[in-house]
Amino acid sequence: MPPCLTLSRGIVLAYPVCELKDMLRIRVLHGPNLNLLGTREQSIYGTLSLDALDSAITKLAEELAVKVDLRQSNNEGELVTWIQEARTGYDGIIINPAAYTHTSIAIRDAIVAVGLPAVEVHLSNIHQREEFRHRSYIAGVAIGQISGLGPIGYLLALRGLHDLLTASRRQKKTAVPATSRRTAKGTT
Ligand code: DQA
Repeated sequence: MPPCLTLSRGIVLAYPVCELKDMLRIRVLHGPNLNLLGTREQSIYGTLSLDALDSAITKLAEELAVKVDLRQSNNEGELVTWIQEARTGYDGIIINPAAYTHTSIAIRDAIVAVGLPAVEVHLSNIHQREEFRHRSYIAGVAIGQISGLGPIGYLLALRGLHDLLTASRRQKKTAVPATSRRTAKGTT
């Protein structure tokens, strides 16, 4: 998309206004203890720090022209608030709810309440681990779950969400409104 030219107080500004306005916005949420990535149980979660993971996500987001907002919290209520806030200004959510995956009806309800497509990500394969990790309260309301692929899981989630959101935008743009369909029918 070409950059837009806008007039601001008599000065012509050439910057990608339209690109910014049309950019997909995705909120990426990391749950409890993920701030310890890189040092925490390295045999399960690997050696990449949360900062390095966020940088990789940001780099891919730039390539895809997606605006990402990355946050981590050890607090369930804060994650719920961030999901609620995403209702305005965001197109989708990527979430690794960490241990809250297996306990939090509040996070599940928040995802349903905002009605945004959410992808659930886990670094480890939760289905191969202890029994209590096999149940996810989030999976039933997420559009998909990626589990066991390490940091790549986040990148796949971003690509997937980007592709789905882009396709749905394109479909909305090309869809013939119901009224014109009626008119067209009536005139033939
Ligand atoms: C995790 C898996 C959860 O069971 C665990 O509580 C985590 C991380 C993962 O990314 O593999 O903290 O979500």
